[in-house]
Amino acid sequence: MAGLLEVKDITVEYGAIKAVRGVSFSVDKGQIVAILGANGAGKSTTLRTISGIIKPKSGEILFEGKNIAGKDIHSIARAGISHSPEGRHILMGLTVEENLIVGTYSLVKKNRGAGAKTSKQNEEYVYEMFPVLKERRKQQANTLSGGEQQMLAIGRALMSSPKLLVLDEPSLGLAPIIVKNIFKCIKEISALGTTILIVEQNALQTLKITDYALVLELGKISMEGPASELINDQRLIEAYLGSKK
Ligand SMILES: Nc1ncnc2c1ncn2[C@@H]1O[C@H](COP(=O)(O)OP(=O)(O)OP(=O)(O)O)[C@@H](O)[C@H]1O
Ligand SMILES: [Mg+2]
Repeated sequence: MAGLLEVKDITVEYGAIKAVRGVSFSVDKGQIVAILGANGAGKSTTLRTISGIIKPKSGEILFEGKNIAGKDIHSIARAGISHSPEGRHILMGLTVEENLIVGTYSLVKKNRGAGAKTSKQNEEYVYEMFPVLKERRKQQANTLSGGEQQMLAIGRALMSSPKLLVLDEPSLGLAPIIVKNIFKCIKEISALGTTILIVEQNALQTLKITDYALVLELGKISMEGPASELINDQRLIEAYLGSKK
């Protein structure tokens, strides 16, 4: 079966910097796939290229069989890819609810009249997933804790009913107990039918919830395989996991 997303030999450069050098992988419908790797390995660049924030120098990105490489960010969002970026980028001066509505942009354009109803249903779905956001829905985003802001960033990405949810470092800077909760929610979002591509520094927790993972090193894939195998791979343990106990 062809993957929902197929990344084929993409190369991405920032001027003279070759950030991604010939990366290929695929994400099947229903899977959680992770990209791991050290700082500067090209993880965010790979995600940003998939969602159209930057254009690849070469290579193909097939989404549901159509090449979306180099297409603009809005048409990629309308096709069903939603990106929760590193650093969250929520709108601090807006309320929780207003931030969520921003996330329906691609949905409303796609469905016109039907959009409003679906957006209400999606808002309820986000509140079920993250009940604290419902309590805080009239509050300005800058009054939320770091964990709540991360939930809002993921919630906003869910507002367009994406086929593929792209998460860049959802656990960044959060306390262990909050990280555990975020990972539990990611697993739940997946179980409810959304395919997920996730970038994480937290390799062990990520491998526990993912189906397949790849490790990027200096813009190239250095290791890949089913998460259940990688979690026991000596090279990966030494480089990223330390002690598993
Ligand atoms: N806008 C930019 N202009 C120039 N170079 C960039 C830009 N963004 C990223 N880079 C460079 O591209 C390389 C890959 O960066 P990228 O952000 O993709 O790494 P990453 O794996 O996400 O790292 P981190 O774990 O620190 O988030 C790095 O060498 C980085 O300095
Ligand atoms: Mg990054």
